[in-house]
Amino acid sequence: MLVFHQISVLQEHLKQLRNQGMTVGFVPTMGALHQGHISLINQAKAQSDIVVCSIFVNPTQFNNAHDLAVYPRTLEADSQMLDTAGCDILFAPSAEEMYPKLPTMKFDFGALETVMEGAFRPGHFNGVGIVVSKLFHIVQPDKAFFGQKDLQQCAVISCMVNELSFHLELVICPTQREEDGLAMSSRNRNLSPEQRAIAPFLYQALNNAKASLLQDKEVSEVKTELAEFLRNIEGIELEYFEISDFDTLQPFHGTLSQNSGGGKIALCIAAFLGKTRLIDNIII
Ligand code: PAF
Repeated sequence: MLVFHQISVLQEHLKQLRNQGMTVGFVPTMGALHQGHISLINQAKAQSDIVVCSIFVNPTQFNNAHDLAVYPRTLEADSQMLDTAGCDILFAPSAEEMYPKLPTMKFDFGALETVMEGAFRPGHFNGVGIVVSKLFHIVQPDKAFFGQKDLQQCAVISCMVNELSFHLELVICPTQREEDGLAMSSRNRNLSPEQRAIAPFLYQALNNAKASLLQDKEVSEVKTELAEFLRNIEGIELEYFEISDFDTLQPFHGTLSQNSGGGKIALCIAAFLGKTRLIDNIII
C-alpha cells in the first residue's frame, strides 16, 4: 500500500492511474478503523480498480472540543489493517495540509440539517461538507463509499453531490454490527467495559420500537416506550430518538398504516454512555 501525506503528490499519482484507464473507489474515514470500515474497503475493491482510503480527523466537524481531543488516533494500526485488507493507497494529510487557513465558506443543507445530528451538533455538517468536498476534489473518485450508520451524513453528502454535480457515484453500505448488535463505531473503543456491556441496549431499543411500529402503535407512544426502556438502564442517557421519513429525514407522524406513500421510515437514536456519544439507526 502506498501512503501519501501531500495533496499534490497524491494527485499526480492518481492522474497517472486514471490515464491508464483505472477507476478509483474512495473510502473517506477519520481512522480508528474497525471491520465496518474494512467492509467499505471490500466494497470499494469489488467495484473499482484502485482503492483509496483517507484518514483525517477533521477538526471542522467537531462542535465539542472534548470529543475532538479524545477521538482515537491509531494511524499505525489503521495502516496495517488497510494494507492487510488490500487497500492500494492511504491518504493521511496533516491539518495544515488540508487547511493552510480555516475555510470561511459555509454549507447550508436546509431542512436536512435542522434535525437530529444537525440540531444537536451545530456546525457539524458544515464541517463534513467542507472536508468531504475537498477530499472529493483531491481524489476525484468514480465511486465513494459511506456507511449507513451515519444516515444523516449520507443524506447530506448525497444532497451535496447532486446539487454541486460531483461526477461520482455514492455507494451507501449497510451498518456492520458486533455479535451482540452494537453498531461498529470508532467511538466504541472509548467505552469502559461496563459501558460496552450496556451499549447493545441501544440496538435493542431500536428493535423494540420497530416491533411496536409494526404493531401499528402511534409514533408518540413508541417514542415514550423507548425513552422509558432506556431510563431503566443506568449509564445510558438518551439524547434523541426520532422516527423520520427516510428520504427527507423529517419527523414521521401517526402510525405505519397511515403511511400512505409507503416510503421507508428511519428510526434514529443518539445517546451518551458517560462522555461517549453513540448513534445508530434502523430502517423499516
Ligand atoms: O464518517 C466519517 O468518518 C467522517 O464524517 C468523514 C466522512 C470521513 C468526514 O470527515
